[in-house]
Amino acid sequence: MRPSDNFPDYLIRQLSSNSDSRSIIMENDFTKYNTTLSENSIIPLGSCTASSLNNEDFADLIEKLKGFSISDLSSTEVVQNLWSGVRSDFLQAMNLSADLVDLVFVPSGTDSETLISSVILEKDHSEKLNNIVVAPLEVGSGTVLACGGRAFTEIAPDGSNWKIGQSIIPNVTEKTEVFEVPIRDSSGDIPPMKNLEKEILRIIEESERNRFSSCLHLVAGSKTGVHAPTTKFVEELEGSLFDNLHVIVDAAQGRFSRSGIKKSLELGRIVTITASKFFGAPPFCGAVLFPRKKYGGVYWREEYKSLFNEMFFSTFSNEQIEITNGLLFRWLIGVSNMQKYYSTSPKHRLSVLKWFEEDAIEIIKSNHHLNYVEPQYFSPDEKNRLLATNKTIHTFRIEKDGIFLPIEYLREIHNKLVLSKPVGFHLGQPVTLSSKSGESGLRIALGSRLIIDSIRTIEEKNGGIEMAREKLTSIISSACNRIEELANEFGN
Ligand SMILES: Cc1ncc(COP(=O)(O)O)c(C=O)c1O
Repeated sequence: MRPSDNFPDYLIRQLSSNSDSRSIIMENDFTKYNTTLSENSIIPLGSCTASSLNNEDFADLIEKLKGFSISDLSSTEVVQNLWSGVRSDFLQAMNLSADLVDLVFVPSGTDSETLISSVILEKDHSEKLNNIVVAPLEVGSGTVLACGGRAFTEIAPDGSNWKIGQSIIPNVTEKTEVFEVPIRDSSGDIPPMKNLEKEILRIIEESERNRFSSCLHLVAGSKTGVHAPTTKFVEELEGSLFDNLHVIVDAAQGRFSRSGIKKSLELGRIVTITASKFFGAPPFCGAVLFPRKKYGGVYWREEYKSLFNEMFFSTFSNEQIEITNGLLFRWLIGVSNMQKYYSTSPKHRLSVLKWFEEDAIEIIKSNHHLNYVEPQYFSPDEKNRLLATNKTIHTFRIEKDGIFLPIEYLREIHNKLVLSKPVGFHLGQPVTLSSKSGESGLRIALGSRLIIDSIRTIEEKNGGIEMAREKLTSIISSACNRIEELANEFGN
């Protein structure tokens, strides 16, 4: 357990607040994503879903808040100053300027969708928005509801209760129609991108004919690392000068290149990211970047109050604002992890990313129970990918006696893995690869924490390079061996 004096307890309570039912800590100390805020030595291989609170990150947070009492942290002025610091550290870490982008913090990647739909409708004064969600099974599971301004969990970030599907922002719900464009066929394979692109073009052309707004999600990348549609297709759409087309880059996975993000913003795309996946901050911790040249400033509105606090916006009134610190504390950790990650040597970062690409695939493929899901998406568009180019998520099915284990059993394996002794492994939650057959996969992901740890080994020790690579492969092998043991228990 962590020390039980008041301040750390207060921080832990705050860290699980200001989000939704997904961050509720259950009796076993875990969320339903099998993440925890308690002291732990779980190996973080699940950064494509969410991350447990890392001990070093928690110590950093305490250090950052040194000198503040609990009551100081309920003062508007103190909290506003802390937010200003997070805001400027974020922009600096991302090499972005406040002149280019208006940054709004949001409780989660999923929540960002409601804000984006609202901002688009407001900007275009449109009667209707056709919102095109690419890869609906591989972005946030609540994305489709959130795009339509509806509740996707029973508890909103301000603590209010909702029925799933209930409209939280009626203005958005009444005017938004959501189109789901899957990327995989019924067998879980990815057909040629041009099929999906044809459907997208049809929706956009129809929207334009009706003078509706349309909004296309460029998923960069998805829960299994898919990048869709192709950048070339999006650029052609942008070149077609549709009047009311908006492009959102869903970089919620945090697996982006900073120059890719900057280029997207310069092209007028909205970008959504989170620090709670690749960058290892506790769930949930999102942000939306609005390019100023297209959207101007984005302002808080009364109708947002269940989802977004006024302080999440760059401009807020000086009236009494209700203080909620969950998102602030998560972002203090998130930004500090971004700074740590980007201050490491780019050469070493690239080495670790490459090891993970090569070694993890080999380890997964050499395990008879694990069936590697080949990343077909890399082939046609490799050089046009705007964002992260390294594979940091590996997806695999689990095979036992000639059948692929169903999602319920993958969930059990996922649960048991975190509780494994002597160390637990946190993997990416199971994802459905095919809605028809129900075939599903588990994921092993590399996040900034393991990269930073590997680079420390490279830099600190003689012969550190080999040692770091061995350490990383040994972690992945141990996780795969443990999965194999658990798979063997299936059906016994
Ligand atoms: C690509 C992508 N977009 C959006 C989300 C939703 O983010 P959050 O879990 O913070 O709601 C996820 C979640 O995994 C995701 O993978």
